[in-house]
Amino acid sequence: MSSKKITCVSICLILVFCQCVVQLEAQLQVGFYTISCGMAEFIVKEEVRKAFLSDKGLVAGLLRMHFHDCFVRGCDASVLIDSTPSNTAEKDTLANNPSLRGFEVIDKAKARLEAACKGVVSCADIVAFAARDSVEITGGLGYDVPAGRRDGIVSLASEASANLPPPTFNINQLTQNFAKKGLTQEEMVTLSGAHTIGRSHCTSFSNRLYGFNTTMSQDPSLDSMYAARLKQQCPQGSTDPNSVVPMDPSSPSITDVSYYRDVLANRGLFTSDQTLLTNPITANQVDQDARNPMLWGSRFAAAMVKMGQISVLTGNAGEIRANCRLVNS
Ligand code: HEM
Ligand SMILES: *[C@@H]1O[C@H](CO)[C@@H](O)[C@H](O)[C@H]1NC(C)=O
Repeated sequence: MSSKKITCVSICLILVFCQCVVQLEAQLQVGFYTISCGMAEFIVKEEVRKAFLSDKGLVAGLLRMHFHDCFVRGCDASVLIDSTPSNTAEKDTLANNPSLRGFEVIDKAKARLEAACKGVVSCADIVAFAARDSVEITGGLGYDVPAGRRDGIVSLASEASANLPPPTFNINQLTQNFAKKGLTQEEMVTLSGAHTIGRSHCTSFSNRLYGFNTTMSQDPSLDSMYAARLKQQCPQGSTDPNSVVPMDPSSPSITDVSYYRDVLANRGLFTSDQTLLTNPITANQVDQDARNPMLWGSRFAAAMVKMGQISVLTGNAGEIRANCRLVNS
């Protein structure tokens, strides 16, 4: 081979290698919209702030929305797609309907972003930014959100029910469920701390209050004073599907470590919360996090960034939806 040929081949190899590195490392980027839509993150933050002022609970909905998006087909805004006569979408499965909220906040942000920079900012990134802003506005630690996600075109109710963990899961089931998404048990415990804000429908935990199993009507791992209060708020046989209780009654709109203090006091609302004490490693982490807000805050920020990268669509994959509820036609 001539030396010219060898030089050419080596340059090609270097180029291929560089491209691989770029693809592996630069999937998502902090400041992705700096040039294409400089106001993007600001607009989302403003809409989240407005929502918080009108209803403090909406931001809890937005935080949960990012989780429910990412765990089903990756963070591709599939959770936002409306059902059609021929398809029941993720948002209409039991885990999301009627409990998931905040869709209008995303719609408002998207409308402003389309007006400011048409076809540029993905719905999946809006959800990721809004989740961060929700943590921040409730007093949690802010963090940079790597962006550049693109929107998927598929949303199936069956995939939501198959991938989202139910509140009845025990420690092993939770650990496995998160492992399938590339998240560790430690990250699972850390992310469960999101239950420091927001509410739950009675139906999500009434199994712990009434007819727990054939020998005990009430879950013995639930503090009895707390159980008595929950029974008042959620009477047996009450068919009101709208009854809700705060998950962290002492500070339902503040992102702090009181969720972990609740769990330590046997006042975790779901089986999936209380079960964190049944394993020595996770119990130890609950104890650490309960006493160390800065440690939990930084762990939570890192875990949110990691969760936000699950199976993302980038480059030319997917699309930038014009309306977050509809795939482009
Ligand atoms: C570990 C497994 C998890 C289970 C089993 C679980 C389950 C639930 C359930 C059943 C509700 C109540 C829904 C209702 O009835 O209204 C809820 C609420 C909530 N979850 Fe989770 N969750 C888990 C993890 C997470 C994660 C990882 C996040 C976010 C990072 C999160 C954020 C929230 C928030 C903020 C709410 C309150 C929503 C609102 O007020 O609208 N959860 N969760
Ligand atoms: C009912 O739950 C209690 C507490 O978890 C347990 O000890 C008991 O074995 C359970 N009974 C049945 C019949 O499963």
